[in-house]
Amino acid sequence: MKDPKIIVALDFPGHDQAIEFAKKISPDQCRLKVGKELFTSAGPALVEALIDIGYDVFLDLKYHDIPSTVKKAASAAAKLGVWMLNVHALGGVTMMQAAREGIEVVPRRPFLIAVTVLTSSGSTELKALGIDVPVLQMVTRLARSAIDSGLDGVVCSAQEAVALRTSLGDAVLLVTPGIRPEWAAADDQKRIVTPQQALASGASYLVIGRPITQHQAPAQALSLISESISEYV
Ligand code: C5P
Repeated sequence: MKDPKIIVALDFPGHDQAIEFAKKISPDQCRLKVGKELFTSAGPALVEALIDIGYDVFLDLKYHDIPSTVKKAASAAAKLGVWMLNVHALGGVTMMQAAREGIEVVPRRPFLIAVTVLTSSGSTELKALGIDVPVLQMVTRLARSAIDSGLDGVVCSAQEAVALRTSLGDAVLLVTPGIRPEWAAADDQKRIVTPQQALASGASYLVIGRPITQHQAPAQALSLISESISEYV
């Protein structure tokens, strides 16, 4: 069975644009990530439509709420048929364990991963919250608590992937955004790595958006990236 490493970030404003784009590429080459903007505007019907076309969907809603609410939200996502979903590790161990229980409502449960420290937060933001430890230490601590809560892995930068792969072992999933092929613009991403560098750093899956979604020939861009990482697939 195919296990494409690329998760295309479907950052479109609405249903029609997302479906039009999804039909230009193929589920043989990638998975799709649906985030807060698209899900809020297009809802579960869009996720079902993408699954009907044949895509695995990563529902990137980063749940962070009281445990019973997150458990029910995770169950709803699992019943929708998503391939992967995520929560904030800062929601705590009880919340993450509840999410893990929540996804058991279907025979083939989705992957459940955690966000640790958002890349938009640095040591200044952590200090303002009263967290006076280096960012990587906080990331590692939260990632460990996610794995101990029964989660499958974490979202992390390629820089963090090296340390997390070493401390968490080979079995965990590391899902890595901030990826740019040499030929693509950085856009607003500050610390970028190439697809090959990310996989060499220990990433399991690569989240890639604009280099593919904004490309004039998305299928061609996706093929170029797939070929460049063929040794890892
Ligand atoms: O277009 P681009 O490749 O920059 O898209 C990256 C995707 O990954 C976006 O959906 C963005 O929200 C998401 N993301 C990120 N950095 C994180 C977590 C998620 O860029 N730390």
